[in-house]
Amino acid sequence: MHERTEAVAAYLAKLTGLVFSPEQLSALEDFLRARFSLLHISDPAEYIARLEDPAEFLEAVDRLTVKETFFYRHEAQFDAFMEHLLPGFLAEAAEEKRPARLWCAGCCTGEEPYTLAILAAEAGCLDRIEILATDIHKGYLEAAMAGVYSRRSVEKLSPEILEKYFSKKGESFRLREDIRRKVDFKYLNLGGTFFPSFLNGTAGLDAVFCRNVLIYFEKARVREIIVRFTDCLRDGGVLALGHSEMLPQDWPLSVQTAGEAFFYRPKKEEPAVAQPPVEPAKPQKRIISPAPPPAEAPGALLLEAERLADAGRAAEAAALCRRLIKENYALEKAHYLLGLLELARPEKALEHFKKAVYLNPGHLQARLHLAQCDEKLGRAGDAAREYRNLGHLAAARPPGELLDAEEGITCGMLALIAGNALKKYPGPDAEKNR
Ligand SMILES: C[S@@+](CC[C@H](N)C(=O)[O-])C[C@H]1O[C@@H](n2cnc3c(N)ncnc32)[C@H](O)[C@@H]1O
Repeated sequence: MHERTEAVAAYLAKLTGLVFSPEQLSALEDFLRARFSLLHISDPAEYIARLEDPAEFLEAVDRLTVKETFFYRHEAQFDAFMEHLLPGFLAEAAEEKRPARLWCAGCCTGEEPYTLAILAAEAGCLDRIEILATDIHKGYLEAAMAGVYSRRSVEKLSPEILEKYFSKKGESFRLREDIRRKVDFKYLNLGGTFFPSFLNGTAGLDAVFCRNVLIYFEKARVREIIVRFTDCLRDGGVLALGHSEMLPQDWPLSVQTAGEAFFYRPKKEEPAVAQPPVEPAKPQKRIISPAPPPAEAPGALLLEAERLADAGRAAEAAALCRRLIKENYALEKAHYLLGLLELARPEKALEHFKKAVYLNPGHLQARLHLAQCDEKLGRAGDAAREYRNLGHLAAARPPGELLDAEEGITCGMLALIAGNALKKYPGPDAEKNR
């Protein structure tokens, strides 16, 4: 890596909390080459001084973030939130004569907060909630405010919802203005100390959504950010992370399952069981496309299990996986899917991920989950071993190789995640990765 890129990347990593992939570093290098020439700079320290200027900082940071998002991403979590948690928050908020308050941290181009707004509109409670959405990337925020999306962004929405909330503009879809106005977009760097704050609306919240953001952060910073999030929440509030993001067991949060998803709550508030809705939830209109009839061929059964899991119908998906296993078919995939369905019960999930890895030692995502389950169960030695194996295997494959098209996970990212995780554990690999 060029010396200037190394110096500037180290400075930006400190300010943002991010860990950069080789692709991001090469994008930064291209940017710096042009910038140094335009500004007639040769000394990295001189350029770093210029980064004090927010405009320059934002220009540089724009090269370093990952854009991957779409409407209704991981719908099981949205559905569970609307059905099991929001009614309680609304009731409490009504008693205190205030709206229920939600924050999407790392909102990218707006699909996540707008999904919440559409679901609230469908449930008839749009005027009783406030949604704050923040990101570090100014271009994404501008796109979010414009509210114009590609077909790919909206493809999980049902035709009825698309018709009701969007107008077609050439090949694009423009979101209805009342929904756009509902979300308050702001710039906020999660690597800083600007939250909680009443000034920017990040205090006294009912829920924080920070999904698929912290996977790109340095592990030590993740803990700092999580602690800040818990301070942003009012009593009883929840934190929603991405569906494969699990926190170590000794952190000050506990898992709360709700419907087919899980959320985190600050430990002091730990409720014994999942809460039933405080007021009867309005019948939820599902906004995914209608299901095709179930098929019987084993290959089709696996697809059907995946589709049911995607639609949040975990019990039915799990039953199909068990049937496939009993019939000795698609074992690796069935075990992996069962593991994902059991994520809220790490000891169960772990058994399935182990089987998937036994059947296919190159199954890198199963290895990542295995390591995270070990971590969650407090088994540091096993977790370190799993991260080490994952790191070696991921590094041996092309960094850009895409493992999960929907989640945008590449081998390079997994190598980074493993390297990062290993810094926590003493031993030769931890040293090597430091
Ligand atoms: C992969 S997207 C996730 C979008 C959305 N939450 C979802 O799950 O669909 C990650 C987002 O995090 C943002 N991000 C990365 N580092 C950040 C930081 N330090 N502060 C705020 N946002 C950040 C990126 O700009 C990007 O928009």
